[in-house]
Amino acid sequence: MNNLFLEGKKKRMSKREKIVIPNAEIERQKGFLLDIKNMTKSPKFAFIETYGCAQNVNDSEKLLGMLSMAGYEKTLDKEKADIIIYNTCAVRENAELKVFGNIGALKALKRKKEDLIIGVCGCMMQQEHIADQIRKKYKHVDIVFGTHALYRFGEILKNVLTEKERIIDITKSDGVIYEDMPISHTGTVSQGVSVMYGCNNFCTYCIVPYVRGRERSRLKEDIISEVKSIAEKGIKEITLLGQNVNSYGHDIENYIDFPDLLGEVSKVEGIERIRFMTSHPKDLSDKLIDEIASNKKVCAQLHLPIQCGSDNILKKMNRKYTKEEYLEKIKKVKEKIPNITLTTDIIVGFPGETNEDFEHTIDVLEKVRYDSVFSFIYSKRKGTPASVMEDVLTPEEKKKNFNRLLEVQNRISKEINDEYENKEYEILVEGESKTDINYLTGRTEGGKIVNFKGDKNLVGKIIKIKVTKAQTWSLFGEII
Ligand code: SAH
Ligand code: SF4
Ligand code: F3S
Repeated sequence: MNNLFLEGKKKRMSKREKIVIPNAEIERQKGFLLDIKNMTKSPKFAFIETYGCAQNVNDSEKLLGMLSMAGYEKTLDKEKADIIIYNTCAVRENAELKVFGNIGALKALKRKKEDLIIGVCGCMMQQEHIADQIRKKYKHVDIVFGTHALYRFGEILKNVLTEKERIIDITKSDGVIYEDMPISHTGTVSQGVSVMYGCNNFCTYCIVPYVRGRERSRLKEDIISEVKSIAEKGIKEITLLGQNVNSYGHDIENYIDFPDLLGEVSKVEGIERIRFMTSHPKDLSDKLIDEIASNKKVCAQLHLPIQCGSDNILKKMNRKYTKEEYLEKIKKVKEKIPNITLTTDIIVGFPGETNEDFEHTIDVLEKVRYDSVFSFIYSKRKGTPASVMEDVLTPEEKKKNFNRLLEVQNRISKEINDEYENKEYEILVEGESKTDINYLTGRTEGGKIVNFKGDKNLVGKIIKIKVTKAQTWSLFGEII
């Protein structure tokens, strides 16, 4: 079952933890997918639900690509599905609880439809204690596999279909990398492209390095050829993805870095907007700031997670920067890119955080004036260093601080958005508004959502609008 090979494309450094899956193995896996296509009825339907971040969305696109090769069509109706897959996230406890609830609810469907295959994969499953829980308590689940086994999905599925036995494949390999597996891009206007996988940072609260393995970069040729195939479909915007894109290329000898990769990607004809996620503040270079400032296709937008404003807590988080160093970088960014849209992630209630520490976070919000903030209450993750650190604040005190943070940020977001009123912007039209079908929605270069009335054939086009009204989370405008 676990055919891992240690050889691979020459240019990549053969670091112990990096396992490049050779083409022969990928072809073998494709063979399993084609076998499934030939041995089962058609059409067959697949339902995939994705939790978590853009990396997981990207993995689900790979799953969909493999399923499509095996003769499955995508469905949004669970009742119609021959296979249901949950691609899970482990970053916070509430994400995990939701998954358990949803898997439990599939029991009735499985009883009604004996041939239904239920699979659970992704970051949550890469943790042994969780996979064990599924094995023991959720007997209606047929397949469990972790992030490292994704490329073996064809082999896993074929075995389940032929042997009628459950398969649990959570082999840990700290990081496989491969190319040339099918992928079904699901973006219609904007598309994510992974440039690297894994993370080496080991922030003490975070499960990601444990479930996604070490950093490994894709070769630039592979990235460019994927971007070209996306551009050929008429898609104008791409987001380059990685847990810390600033480390791109560091794992490959004498390789290009992330700013140079942005330069290469921007040469692809048809791509007009390039975004990227995420940047670790410690690795944000002057070169990257200059590339955003000078490259017209790279959007004036930066997501730079600070997590907390207190030096004491930043140290305990293993973030490797101080509040002052962070603010210094923001100052540089604002000087060189005055129209930049800034966003961040913040964790409230990290073990040991006091109300005084929290005041530093509020101070950062007031000083930086982010366009928006993604804030989370700290969630204990089994096996991480922070999980054994002691709390100072009670859950009620943490909640109070969390609400205060929201209040402060909502005020700032609204103040910033107010300044957009009566000004003109170019937006890329994304589709119907999720909240009101009478409106279309699009994004400015900085990523601000603008709702406006217009014809659906504008979707996918870049048009000019004038902002008529600002709200905390979005803007309203009219076509000019
Ligand atoms: N690699 C990215 C994001 C990783 S996860 C980065 O470093 O920025 C996305 C966000 O989830 C993190 O930025 C952090 O704010 C939050 N997060 C991660 N682990 C968490 C935990 N245990 N509890 C609460 N929030 C957490
Ligand atoms: Fe997690 Fe830190 Fe890596 Fe981001 S940089 S994925 S927060 S360990
Ligand atoms: Fe969640 Fe895994 Fe992403 S833990 S945030 S889906 S890398």
